[in-house]
Formats: sequence, structure tokens, C-alpha cells
Amino acid sequence: MAHTSDQISRVTRTKETAKASYDRMSRWYDLIAGTSEWKFVKVGLDILKAKEGETILEIGYGTGKALLALAEAVGDGGRVYGMDLSEGMYRIASERVRAVGLSDRVELRCGDAAELPYEDRCIDAVFSSFTLELFDTPEIPIVLRECGRVLRKDGRLTVVSMSKKHEESIAVRLYEWAYEKFPNYVDCRPIYVAQSMSDAGFHIVESVEMKMWGLPVDAVLGRMKP
Ligand SMILES: C[S@@+](CC[C@H](N)C(=O)[O-])C[C@H]1O[C@@H](n2cnc3c(N)ncnc32)[C@H](O)[C@@H]1O
Repeated sequence: MAHTSDQISRVTRTKETAKASYDRMSRWYDLIAGTSEWKFVKVGLDILKAKEGETILEIGYGTGKALLALAEAVGDGGRVYGMDLSEGMYRIASERVRAVGLSDRVELRCGDAAELPYEDRCIDAVFSSFTLELFDTPEIPIVLRECGRVLRKDGRLTVVSMSKKHEESIAVRLYEWAYEKFPNYVDCRPIYVAQSMSDAGFHIVESVEMKMWGLPVDAVLGRMKP
């Protein structure tokens, strides 16, 4: 697919294929990606600062490591919801939550985060790591607007994602080439994280720029504009 360096790659695989791929990967995911990605997820959790008593939603909870941190932070009086496409991930994450006795404050669902089944304005904060970049370009604003819809006034959103900059390094160009050539193996692609959030109505409060294997990863905290 030919594109200028400012355009982000399109997603060519279907959601059914993505779901099947994450179902297959779920049992090995922590071994494959868990350790290398966790430190970036942790930065996202740090800037989100989930508090006691809050209601938090995680989109694309994967094997559930961040869910545990969120469930501990909100305490007995809080609640954590999770939405993930993959049934395999649902099973692993549910078992992880159950094993530490936190099932009473965590409610997980299996489904597409482009259509959230939650009421308007019922969530204090949304968290998502390495998931927004899996949505095709026209769907990114839809997912972010869904986050905005379920968030309370002044609610916050933290996204951790591979990120695209206007000046691309050779590493990013090579990565994007590999993404377009082998979409079933290289399934995340860099996106304009803060810009997408801002376009969807979030005021950017904090943005931490990091690198993973030479590729930019941003953790961005936004607040709903009043
Ligand atoms: C790359 S993994 C990241 C998992 C976890 N957030 C982490 O950082 O380890 C992406 C997750 O998003 C989920 N996912 C992919 N497409 C989704 C969609 N349309 N709606 C909800 N979850 C989705 C996948 O099943 C997978 O668990």
C-alpha cells in the first residue's frame, strides 16, 4: 500500500481473524509480549492514577495484568470493567482475577470496543494499552468517541500505544513495511496517539514519549473537554 509518511497504515485483517489470532495467542501472550510491554503499560497506569472508589474501564485487557493493578487501586468500593474481543483472553484474565480473589469488583466482557455496552457517563476513567492501534483508521475516532460517551464529565482516558511522529526513523519505516506485508504476524502499527485523542474531544494533560526496540511508544493522558 503506497502512502505518504504522514498517513498511518490501514488495517487489512478482519476482526474475526484478529479474534482468532488473539484466541490462539492468549495462553502464550505473557511469554511472547508480556515482559517487554509491561514497563510501558506501567507508565500508562502511573499517569492514569486510578483512585479508591473509582469506576474504571479497560479496553483490550488481554491477559489481565493491568486489570489487577486497577482493581487493587480502586479498592473495595470501586469497580473495574473490561472489554476484549478475544474469548481466550477473557478466560485467562478471568482466571487471573479469580486467583487473587478480586472477582467481586471486576466485571469482564467479550466483545468489540467500537460498540461499548455501557451507559453514558458511568465511568471515571478508561485505560487502554497496545489496543487502539489495532483498530482501522476510520474506527479510531469511533472508539475514542465511545470512550468519551461512557466517561463522566471531566473523566480521563489513558492510551498506551505505538506512536507515529511526523519525522519517521528508518526503524519505523521498516516496521510499517513489515506490518503491511505480514499483517497476521506484525499486528500493531504506529498511530498519532495524542492527535487522535485531541480530535475526539480530549484535552491532553500529559504525554510520555518512550521507545520499544527503537520504535516510539507514547503513554497519553487526556481529560474530557467540558
Ligand atoms: C496487543 S494486545 C494488548 C493486551 C494488553 N492491553 C496488554 O497491554 O498486554 C491487544 C488486545 O486487544 C484485544 N482487541 C483487539 N481488537 C479488539 C476490539 N475490536 N475490541 C476489544 N478488544 C480488542 C485483543 O484481543 C488483545 O487482548
